[in-house]
Amino acid sequence: MPGSAVLVGGDPGIGKSTLLLQAAAALAARSGRACAYVSGEEAIDQVRLRAQRLGVTAAPVELASATSVRDLVDSLDHAQGPGVVVIDSIQTMYVDNLESAPGTVAQVRASTQELIRLAKARGFVLLLVGHVTKEGMIAGPKVLEHMVDAVLYFEGERGHQFRILRTTKNRFGPTDEIGVFEMTEQGLMEVANPSALFLAERRGEVSGASVFAGLEGTRPVLVEIQALVAPSSLGTPRRAVVGWDSGRLAMVLAVLEARCGLSFAGQDVYLNVAGGLRISEPAADLAVAAALVSALADRPVPAEAVVFGEIGLAGEVRAVSQAEQRLKEAAKLGFERAFLPPRRGRGKEAAGLPAGGALEVIEIGHLQDLVECLSSHSPDAPLRRHA
Ligand code: TYD
Ligand code: MG
Repeated sequence: MPGSAVLVGGDPGIGKSTLLLQAAAALAARSGRACAYVSGEEAIDQVRLRAQRLGVTAAPVELASATSVRDLVDSLDHAQGPGVVVIDSIQTMYVDNLESAPGTVAQVRASTQELIRLAKARGFVLLLVGHVTKEGMIAGPKVLEHMVDAVLYFEGERGHQFRILRTTKNRFGPTDEIGVFEMTEQGLMEVANPSALFLAERRGEVSGASVFAGLEGTRPVLVEIQALVAPSSLGTPRRAVVGWDSGRLAMVLAVLEARCGLSFAGQDVYLNVAGGLRISEPAADLAVAAALVSALADRPVPAEAVVFGEIGLAGEVRAVSQAEQRLKEAAKLGFERAFLPPRRGRGKEAAGLPAGGALEVIEIGHLQDLVECLSSHSPDAPLRRHA
């Protein structure tokens, strides 16, 4: 949107500069109108080298190295200016009528205000990079969220090559879209099929693993949940979680113990979302429970099954949104069976799915049903229903 300001936040080193340099080049190539990429962190030769390595030197992107907002305003405040201006990063910019150092809350706010004013006056799109700072939210992207029109966060786990771009605020469109990218030698590449990426290293039927049919924004994403349960040598056993909420794990463990009679006492429990994805959906509860039960019983969850559903404190399994979309994605990737919450008005028949994929649907009304399903030899054994 011309004249709008977009904040792109993320941890240092996650790939914000790479993403925005590539985006600036793509926008410039598509619109034919020049884009400006202003770095306050790297010398112009470094930026040029990066652009060469990313193979984006053909597009009309003006590269600049600057930190003074006054200088920027001087060079951008004319009618033939660029259509898009990237500021990398807002924490390096300063206005000279303030005493404080660049990167302080006052400077970050004042610089942003000044640049937004110019963007509105000249009608260019302002893309601001904001590092999420170590000291929490001080002078980080959070203090700017109310000033801009859209806020995107670029995230991913270090040591994993994929990244997710998420919208948390958007004055001009939806906030539930995500972009999935892979960091490669040639920069960021779009991942068209995230599920295939997250499941790429799965090793068939092993105990302690289940496949969660999740949603990221509007996109269905399948991801493997791994659990390890091992005797503890500690007085208080460990509960370690990567990629999920530890409070939520404690809740699922408590429900398994109180409502299903399982015991994790004296056992260390490790939970990991494979591939480095971070999941916040309660719909993952049932998949986590499946991985835990499978690890404890040392019995694999059927490899061709996906699992999803929210768990309540009584052990009841609650419906989650977009069940059909999750099932469709599972069928698309060749899964044959799904453990999911009871769906109103439907029996235990196969879900009607397009293109050859009929998924066997196993409705789980209570967590105990899942425990029985997983511990019985035949997954088709009759399910016990709880009132
Ligand atoms: P960068 O965009 O500099 O991160 P940020 O601006 O968020 O601090 O990129 C971070 C990492 O990405 C860097 O450590 C190296 C890696 N990288 C690649 O793997 N391939 C590439 O083509 C580029 C440019 C970077
Ligand atoms: Mg950077």
